[in-house]
Amino acid sequence: MVGEFPFSFPFPFFVGISVGVLLLMMMFVCKHFLPLFANISGLKGTAPPPGSFGWPLIGETLSFLKPHGSNAIGSFLEQHCSRYGKVFKSHLFFSPAIVSCDQELNHFILQNEDKLFQCSYPKPIHGVLGKNSLLVVVGDAHKRLRTMALTLVSTTKSKVSYLNDIEEMAVRIIHSWKNQHRTQILFCEEARKFTFSVIVKQVLGLTPEEPQTLRILEDFLTFMKGLISFPVYIPGLPYARAVQARLRISSTVKSIIEERRKGGDSSKKCDFLDVLLSTDTLSEEEKVSFVLDSLLGGYETTSLLMAMTVYFLGHCPSALQQLQSEHQKIKRNRKNDKFLNWEDYKKMEFTQNVINEALRCGNIVKFLHRKALKDVRFKDYLIPSGWKVLPVFSAVHLDTSLHGNASHFHPWRWESENLAPTKKFTPFGGGPRFCPGSELAKVEVAFFLHHFVLNFSWRLGEEDSPTAYPYVEFQKSLPLIINPISAASVQKTI
Ligand code: HEM
Repeated sequence: MVGEFPFSFPFPFFVGISVGVLLLMMMFVCKHFLPLFANISGLKGTAPPPGSFGWPLIGETLSFLKPHGSNAIGSFLEQHCSRYGKVFKSHLFFSPAIVSCDQELNHFILQNEDKLFQCSYPKPIHGVLGKNSLLVVVGDAHKRLRTMALTLVSTTKSKVSYLNDIEEMAVRIIHSWKNQHRTQILFCEEARKFTFSVIVKQVLGLTPEEPQTLRILEDFLTFMKGLISFPVYIPGLPYARAVQARLRISSTVKSIIEERRKGGDSSKKCDFLDVLLSTDTLSEEEKVSFVLDSLLGGYETTSLLMAMTVYFLGHCPSALQQLQSEHQKIKRNRKNDKFLNWEDYKKMEFTQNVINEALRCGNIVKFLHRKALKDVRFKDYLIPSGWKVLPVFSAVHLDTSLHGNASHFHPWRWESENLAPTKKFTPFGGGPRFCPGSELAKVEVAFFLHHFVLNFSWRLGEEDSPTAYPYVEFQKSLPLIINPISAASVQKTI
């Protein structure tokens, strides 16, 4: 019969369903707001800091993630800090959370990794990175992998070719602009080519031309897109494509490992991979995952740092001029030396100030994900067990009570400051998870700047600025108009 339901449901059935749905919704709302009111305190006389929980389930996540300039803290933190103070409670990433914009609490969180707090990235990130990733493992597994990371960093650094390889890649990229007579470049893309070739050379001993490098790069780009995509596994969509790309990178890396093994001693290059292969404390999967972590850690962040330095220098002609003078002096003193060495690097003092200031103003890593392992008392507050804890670095880096005229790019401030990380300057994190690639990143940027400022003058093309989505990005890839300084001055050293 047209227009009639094939089945008829009795009235009580609908009532039952409606009551069920209502109860379920109430349960979600209660579960969401309960931590706000309950006396969770296991520690007498303490309660979580003030704050608000926002909407059921999503809480305040959308406002927290709202894009803003990466050299500012954004309206969410501005409003919350002025209403509640530097430490407040919120509901973020489907969990009650404590947000810290306080240097002391941030330091306390980082130093107490695995004791009171633990690294806790959202589950979908685990799906893409894999369960063996150094970035997500915790406890003893993390300690084991990290020991390996530190051994690898020190072994690689002691190799004679460590600095030469970095410089060679910098010269290559700069020559490519000269040779193609390019006047405009998308700087972020060029910077990514550079950092990718450096890290692939450091980790796998591959040059940019080798077919395996191109294959890894293609898969890696798909992998990166998935990391910041909507985390639902539907074939064809970015997240699923990323998981697949990771599998393909794994198999390429495995085949490189296999080739190395078959080649025996004759194929030894004394590089990262050789050290990794000779260790028996890691499983095959852990070794592959380790290579991926290094590629991931060493690629996007470092290219962003390059873009930040160029962006801020582009807005600060006096700093650019001083940087150029520093590198001209180093070049004059190099005489016939073919390559830059550690001595030259140490002489790049103003360059270090520029890099630090770009890290402080640019905030490549805005915050970290942690969770409280037990009830923790900090000053007058309770941080309840199981809650998310987010140390926000950008808020400390841009705190005017810690850094005078904080929103201003002023590299000279580092002349009277400690250049090493301190409580108020943590671009590479801290404690047992401090970034093992921090020095590599700085050397890459310094060597690149050396050849860039000696060979090109530039100005910013279209207006573009670093935006925290919260992953920092230059939306237009930072267009630059470049001009060779003089054909004769191109470094023909390599
Ligand atoms: C400007 C460049 C870089 C920045 C701003 C940066 C930032 C960071 C931060 C903040 C952390 C701490 C994460 C946490 O505690 O949860 C970290 C960890 C890490 N970074 Fe970097 N990084 C950079 C370059 C590199 C490079 C070049 C490499 C690789 C060669 C690298 C590899 C790693 C790895 C493997 C970890 C995990 C360490 C662990 O959990 O023990 N990073 N990085």
